[in-house]
Amino acid sequence: MQPEAAVSSEFPSVISDDTSQTSAYQAALFHLRQGLQALYELSPGKDREKKDAHEEVLVLQRQILQLLHLHFSPERETSGARSFGDVLRQHREEAGLTQAQLAAFSNLSISLVRKLEQGWNMPTRATLLALCSVADLKLVPAEVTTLPSMREDSHRLAPNCYLSPGFDAVSMMTELGQQMNGSGGAIEQTYIYLDPKSALDWIQLANAPSYVAAFRESMPHTAIAKCIRQVLGPSGLDLIALGPGDAKVEVKLVQHILEEIDRPNLRFYLLDASQPLLSRGFRHAVDTFNDDPRIFVCGIQGNFHHLPRYLQLHYTPARSHRRRVYMMLGDTIGNLENEPQFFQNAFSGAAPGDLLIFDVGYAFSDSMDPTDIYRCDPALSKPVPEGLQRWLGGPIQRYCQGAQNISFSYRLDVHRPLAGSYGLQFIAKVQLLGMTTREFCMHQIRRYQPESLTRCMQSLGWEQVGLFPFNGSSTRPKGVFIFQKRTPKVPH
Ligand SMILES: C[S@@+](CC[C@H](N)C(=O)[O-])C[C@H]1O[C@@H](n2cnc3c(N)ncnc32)[C@H](O)[C@@H]1O
Repeated sequence: MQPEAAVSSEFPSVISDDTSQTSAYQAALFHLRQGLQALYELSPGKDREKKDAHEEVLVLQRQILQLLHLHFSPERETSGARSFGDVLRQHREEAGLTQAQLAAFSNLSISLVRKLEQGWNMPTRATLLALCSVADLKLVPAEVTTLPSMREDSHRLAPNCYLSPGFDAVSMMTELGQQMNGSGGAIEQTYIYLDPKSALDWIQLANAPSYVAAFRESMPHTAIAKCIRQVLGPSGLDLIALGPGDAKVEVKLVQHILEEIDRPNLRFYLLDASQPLLSRGFRHAVDTFNDDPRIFVCGIQGNFHHLPRYLQLHYTPARSHRRRVYMMLGDTIGNLENEPQFFQNAFSGAAPGDLLIFDVGYAFSDSMDPTDIYRCDPALSKPVPEGLQRWLGGPIQRYCQGAQNISFSYRLDVHRPLAGSYGLQFIAKVQLLGMTTREFCMHQIRRYQPESLTRCMQSLGWEQVGLFPFNGSSTRPKGVFIFQKRTPKVPH
């Protein structure tokens, strides 16, 4: 329980005990905001003209609100001259949280939350910080709400970027350096995106015209979005992109979801371990959706192997109609050490009904027949492409002391946990000063047998609800899988 003696003066925007300003202005503000909300909810359907008209009406209504602020707001307009309790209750209700959930997420006692809402207690600075740390509450911690014409946009200024508990990028870079200067071995895929140069090299690869045409543009976005709508209906969605990188693929998919779903109510979380990639992806998402009140964007620097630790993403409200949609796109599943273990561990917080979407490359031949794989898989008949060598060789050049020369080749890995699947390992042979050599497996990609993937997911409690093959301009067939978490069977 927190002592509530000292009232914070650092958050004038959310605290106002000046009730003398309640006025016709407040009433007008209230009704105009309600009007705006109602307009947002008015679905114009798919007709282009109607959509444009809807947008125009929204713009006009926003302008009216701004004019009201500019010409009629009292000297120190705050978030209305309402009490802090009213503001808190409104934000909590808009976030769809109960008082108990808010207490749990902010680490405050439920009785304190009640007293704050009822106006019996005023918040201390620590209490305000705790409340502002609950992303969904969108409580604005500074004086943003005192700025005329900014109020309606204040959700943009709410805290929307998080560093996950226990995440330490500096230690990860130290670990990478240690491994580069050890005796060689496999580099876990998280490390090859971490530093800014690795991120830049990866961005260049992923945006090369051939890759964009083969994968990024050919992904069946519309079919995936329609499938989500059919399976989940009109529920609010928490779209959780795991490893979004520059987020081009994920943002495009979310745009299709917005198109498909009536009255969307979306929260879009981008979780990536690489700070440079996260800031790139987050900025792209915010630039794309910033004006859209139907979606809240949030960046999280974190490790998807630690997903169950991130409770903000995994609470299960008693009466929630929201569903989570985990997205792991761009072949990310195929870079992991052990896919079944990852599915089992990382998604242990998924609730029945949640969706998991990922794309993978298909096998050209069975893992039991390596000769046939060498014959059929086009990658194996060519040298490792230059762009990949630049990206994967970068960490060796930067962190492996005495590295003189690096040569890359493929190695076939047929000892995979998923039946029928095989992997291509990118092996770097490094020549060091003094004529010694060291070998690293810098990266791995996989090819899967769709049926075995489906069986594996089924055994882990995930039902396949969609499968969309695609290959764009590439000769490498791929598929997007959509799985839904089943309700566990109750033992008799
Ligand atoms: C193959 S890229 C895919 C990027 C993007 N989804 C796309 O389709 O273009 C993998 C992404 O996962 C991120 N990543 C790798 N390991 C991670 C981890 N352990 N936790 C969080 N993100 C990770 C990388 O930083 C990178 O952005």
